[in-house]
Amino acid sequence: MPMEAQVSIRVQPSCTCSLAISSPQPRFGLPAKPLFRHSPLRSTANKPTASPEQLTATPIMEASGFDSKGREFKNAEEMWTEEIGKDGDVHKRKEWYRQGVGYWEGVEATTDGVLGGYAHVNDADIKGSEAFLRLLLVERFPGGGRGRNLVALDCGSGIGRVSKNLLIRFFTEVDLLEPVSHFLEAARESLVPESGSAIENKATNFFCVPLQEFTPDVGRYDVIWIQWCIGHLADDDFVSFFMRAKAGLKPGGLFVLKENIARSGFVLDKEDRSVTRSDTYFKELFHRCGLHIFKSKDQRGLPEELFAVKMYALTPDTPKRVHGTRAKAQHNRPSIIK
Ligand SMILES: C[S@@+](CC[C@H](N)C(=O)[O-])C[C@H]1O[C@@H](n2cnc3c(N)ncnc32)[C@H](O)[C@@H]1O
Repeated sequence: MPMEAQVSIRVQPSCTCSLAISSPQPRFGLPAKPLFRHSPLRSTANKPTASPEQLTATPIMEASGFDSKGREFKNAEEMWTEEIGKDGDVHKRKEWYRQGVGYWEGVEATTDGVLGGYAHVNDADIKGSEAFLRLLLVERFPGGGRGRNLVALDCGSGIGRVSKNLLIRFFTEVDLLEPVSHFLEAARESLVPESGSAIENKATNFFCVPLQEFTPDVGRYDVIWIQWCIGHLADDDFVSFFMRAKAGLKPGGLFVLKENIARSGFVLDKEDRSVTRSDTYFKELFHRCGLHIFKSKDQRGLPEELFAVKMYALTPDTPKRVHGTRAKAQHNRPSIIK
């Protein structure tokens, strides 16, 4: 049982609340942050006073956020300036990424390791992802993609949990990208085809690089899957990654981003150097990337104490205009009897 420690977190200018958080902090990646079990982001007692309309209307750079020590930032810009410095401060930015990867280098290459002690959410996570992926394949590719040479990229793949349990069953080829070499080695071993296996699909490439330094081959992928790792990227690297990666999609291809969602603003984890963003924050970034939401879905069935998790299917294609009004007008026109 983790020890409980009392910390004071200022949630509103006029209210100082004493909140319990777990300490010492079991270290997690993105899915598992019991650290925030009692955080203002989950506690209904400490809901922000702004209405949902006000929260959506607030430009993201103006939304306030917290770090894992309870410190409040007045907006994301203030937080990023502190964490990665102003433009040109190469050293600070390098340090941010070094510490992020450094954190994961100290984690064991197991499902429990990459899920921060929450290996038991694996089944619910994979089921939710599978339902979402099936829907996308049916809607996006003729015949649900059957008979096509489908190729996926698993970004921040860790030990290849998503590739092994999901992607390899649907894609002829899966490439994995992961900056932590002992994770990638574990992935390589677990994805070696079993002799006699009916599945002919294969893991093809294993890239040991971080997302901010990766450029995919042009037109290689039907789906680029990014799960529980994008929080490690600063906003500008987030945008440049997606801008470069768009060229890696085949025509009609999609990004799937599956991530923890903060209730509002953001939450900075000081230990693993990651940021959990709100839905509004993500939408602002998608806009900057020139990406459109083709479909999105909430992940269900995860433990109450964790952040909400959302799946976004993103496309660089401009959505087709739905001529709803005209269709409606025609529908309401009296029929003509011929
Ligand atoms: C919570 S684990 C998730 C692993 C995997 N996506 C899964 O769902 O099982 C976070 C992963 O992000 C990786 N990561 C950290 N910094 C990264 C970066 N800059 N680019 C890509 N991946 C990164 C970590 O090494 C780790 O494998």
